[in-house]
Amino acid sequence: MAEVILVDSKEAAGELVADHIAGLVTANPEAVLGVATGSTPLPVYEALGARADAGLDFSRVSAYALDEYVGLPVEHPESYRSVITKEFQERVGANPALVHVPDGSLDGIETAGERYEALLASSGGVDLQLLGLGTTGHIGFNEPGSSFGSLTRVKTLTEQTRLDNARFFDSLDEVPIHCVTQGLGTILRARHLVLLAFGEGKAEALAASVEGAVSSSMPGSAIQLHPHVTVLVDEAAASGLKNLDYYRWATAHKPQWQGI
Ligand code: GLP
Repeated sequence: MAEVILVDSKEAAGELVADHIAGLVTANPEAVLGVATGSTPLPVYEALGARADAGLDFSRVSAYALDEYVGLPVEHPESYRSVITKEFQERVGANPALVHVPDGSLDGIETAGERYEALLASSGGVDLQLLGLGTTGHIGFNEPGSSFGSLTRVKTLTEQTRLDNARFFDSLDEVPIHCVTQGLGTILRARHLVLLAFGEGKAEALAASVEGAVSSSMPGSAIQLHPHVTVLVDEAAASGLKNLDYYRWATAHKPQWQGI
């Protein structure tokens, strides 16, 4: 069962996660982080940027992104390579050579999944994986129906996900139909999963992921199979949880030493 922590704001979640990551990086300057795109993890990157400005050294940290669009040039501002460069790498001063994003270029797309899996394997494994949640319940870009054993591969986005992500593009037609995404099996190999969800729009998928049936129809429910999961949610995203009172109680009485 995941630990569910109620936060007052996304900024508060960003601070909590950044404190934890700062501890990881201090203990191991070569820590391996799993980074995510979308608006959800931005407060974490902002808080990490502040710690980097205050002297925390990210130069030997490696980072692995969850996913990438297929066929979108890497220079496109909405390619996940561009987003991770701008929002994470440049903010914290990570070494570009150590920041990895699946290769979504059409040339060689057939082997993009296995190449990324090989790279991940050579990293020694992800210490902490940040996750957001799509409204379809996807983590990474694992849409409903994704196998719990799946590894990095090409997936077809649902129309709902394309509509959700159209806000980043000039039109829906520009949103790619395919992506390369770490599989649920890949994500479950990370040593610690940190799932963030903010706002009412995530309430249904969040409740189904945390408390619903473990099912490939709800990819986020894969987190229930992992031994170390932290879910940070605001009240709006938490509003569909059956055991909300308990999570509030547990958050209010969380031992100071415990961390996430
Ligand atoms: C995209 C990403 C996911 C992310 C999701 C939610 O589809 N592939 O990794 O979790 O969007 O986006 P947001 O955080 O903007 O709500």
